[in-house]
Amino acid sequence: MKRDVELSILDELLRQLDEKRNVDAGVMFRNPTSVYTSAEIARQEVQSFFRGHPQLVALSGSLPEPGSYLTVEDFGVPILATRDSDGRFRAFVNACRHRGARVAEGSGKSAAFKCPFHNWVYSNRGELTAIPLPEQVGALDRKCHGLVELPAVESGGLLWVHPRADGSIDLDRQLGELGEEIASWGFGELVPIGETVIDGRLNWKLANDTFGETYHFSRLHRNTLGQVFHGDALGYEEFGRNHRFVIATRAIDELRTRPRNEWSLLEATSPLYYLFPNIQLSFGRGTASLIKMYPDPEHPEDPGRSRTRVVHYFSRELIAQAEHTGDDVHRVTAENAYEYEAGREMVLTLSSFTEVFDSTIEKEDYLMGEHQQKAAESGQVEHLVFGRNEPALHHYHTHFREALGMAPLERIDP
Ligand code: FES
Ligand SMILES: [Fe+2]
Repeated sequence: MKRDVELSILDELLRQLDEKRNVDAGVMFRNPTSVYTSAEIARQEVQSFFRGHPQLVALSGSLPEPGSYLTVEDFGVPILATRDSDGRFRAFVNACRHRGARVAEGSGKSAAFKCPFHNWVYSNRGELTAIPLPEQVGALDRKCHGLVELPAVESGGLLWVHPRADGSIDLDRQLGELGEEIASWGFGELVPIGETVIDGRLNWKLANDTFGETYHFSRLHRNTLGQVFHGDALGYEEFGRNHRFVIATRAIDELRTRPRNEWSLLEATSPLYYLFPNIQLSFGRGTASLIKMYPDPEHPEDPGRSRTRVVHYFSRELIAQAEHTGDDVHRVTAENAYEYEAGREMVLTLSSFTEVFDSTIEKEDYLMGEHQQKAAESGQVEHLVFGRNEPALHHYHTHFREALGMAPLERIDP
């Protein structure tokens, strides 16, 4: 991130905190609850956003070396993503060209994939390399029967796949100047340390909405995240359909007594990128949490169910440091996570971070989301309100509606 941007975000957050005001969109909107319950909208979303749009599947560290692979079953097209023997990121439809069985499961390292059904074998470049009993099967041009390859781009430590073979990925268009900023954080250096899956009875957009304002921090999260973060203040900027959302931690208070040249965004805030349509990428010093929200893959056209995957990534340095101090980065208790002490090394709270982060989403945010879903499904509440202090919700809902050709959100005029 450019230094002047970093300082301007910190200045703005400090100003808001001093003046006890939040970011102000200057306008309120009415959001129809039907967007969370309409089967027709759900159907269009699956086609446009999940089968017809590039998908951020992981950070580069999930394919750490040549031969690494991972599989994805979240958005209707089964994906096998590989780092081939030359280190190049590739993606294929995870379906055997004989009769369509999956050729790979889970993730790991392998130079070849043997279909479990009749044992046709594919390289990690997708080539069909072996067929048992070819004389009985018949003559077949192997070159035309490799795995179906999909557009795949690795950029700035992010792994993107287009779920259609005839699709294209244009990150300059999709991310604009945000692409360069994202690349500046070195996400590609991070190592995945665990994943949490939350299947909830809430529309996937309600899941995303919980990341769209800090108004609830000091209320819903009073005893959890509210202890670490300042709610009711936000460094916010839009980049096309994406946005940057920066939340101040309580450590920002100390900046006032420190020289400006020592100020650092990651020391005093927790930034989050929303990447259209379904990604929240939250990060800190040596950490990132990739949050991916989908319509329930088992019932993709049921608007009342969703699946969230949260994958946590840490830097090698931080993992080594945590191991050195005896901190178990994989399993920690919730109690010590919020013992915030000024000046204390963040690593102590980071090790607790993954568990608490996930349980806060599940037990606090998504609980609200499930209530909101029921209210929407009752059919008795037609509209919800997006306040002036919730511009990220305005932005997200404006763009998803526009992408589906829906009428814009209605303003609430005082
Ligand atoms: S379906 Fe894969 S080998 Fe037959
Ligand atoms: Fe929340």
